[in-house]
Amino acid sequence: MSVASSDFKKVTTNSVQEMKRQGEKISMLTAYDYTLAGIVDKAGIDVILVGDSASNVMAGHETTLPITLDQMIYHASSVVRAIERALVVVDLPFGSYQGNSKEALGSAIRIMKESGGHAVKLEGGVEIIESIERILTAGIPVMGHLGLTPQSIYKFGTYTVRARQEAEAEKLISDAKALEEAGCFALVLEKIPADLAEKVAQELSIPVIGIGAGAGVDGQVLVLHDMLGMTHEFNPRFLRRYLDLYTEISTAIQSYVHDVKSLDFPNEKEQY
Ligand code: KIV
Repeated sequence: MSVASSDFKKVTTNSVQEMKRQGEKISMLTAYDYTLAGIVDKAGIDVILVGDSASNVMAGHETTLPITLDQMIYHASSVVRAIERALVVVDLPFGSYQGNSKEALGSAIRIMKESGGHAVKLEGGVEIIESIERILTAGIPVMGHLGLTPQSIYKFGTYTVRARQEAEAEKLISDAKALEEAGCFALVLEKIPADLAEKVAQELSIPVIGIGAGAGVDGQVLVLHDMLGMTHEFNPRFLRRYLDLYTEISTAIQSYVHDVKSLDFPNEKEQY
């Protein structure tokens, strides 16, 4: 383990900022349940994101839009019970903060109170600044999220790379600066050109964590089930698979079915 992260028994919003200052990259993965979150934490991850991608990964929805605040709290509280070291950031789900800043604050307070998470993440730029500022006044740390923001998929119409055009790139830079100025402790940039992401990371003093945003940012995040190879149908260019768990699990289950049918399981030692 490297300098900055080994200094911290528990990773906090301050420690990830210190990692950026010391030039240490920040590692972040999603988790949605107790068992996997415990493995991820003990393996040394810095930040666990209880992402609203649980809507796709755990519930099989096509988008992140259907997941509710109650469901996010259920996932986040399961994750928090498993954690000893990582910083736990929880997504505010679609519809729980876009209405007005009072609603946003109420949703963020529910997440912190009922799940025990350490920070919240919201998608959007200047249009949600008032909500971010209000959440921050309650002492709740906020992570921003710009670029391909999946809660806006019906506005974008496609999951392709964002901010290739100059106007969108300029808006992204000014949104990123506004989020830093408002007090966000970190920022996620999703699926944007690597040179743009690097420019944002250089211009901001808060950590910029990328997914499909290249190597010039301050940290990386992936969806756990994707990097473990549990999902086969999702193949974006930015995804590195570290395992083929889909095949491993499938093979194990086929063996179990075979053993049950052939009366091989349970054997004498596996019964009372
Ligand atoms: O919900 C999620 O998993 C996310 C990451 C893709 C950053 O927001």
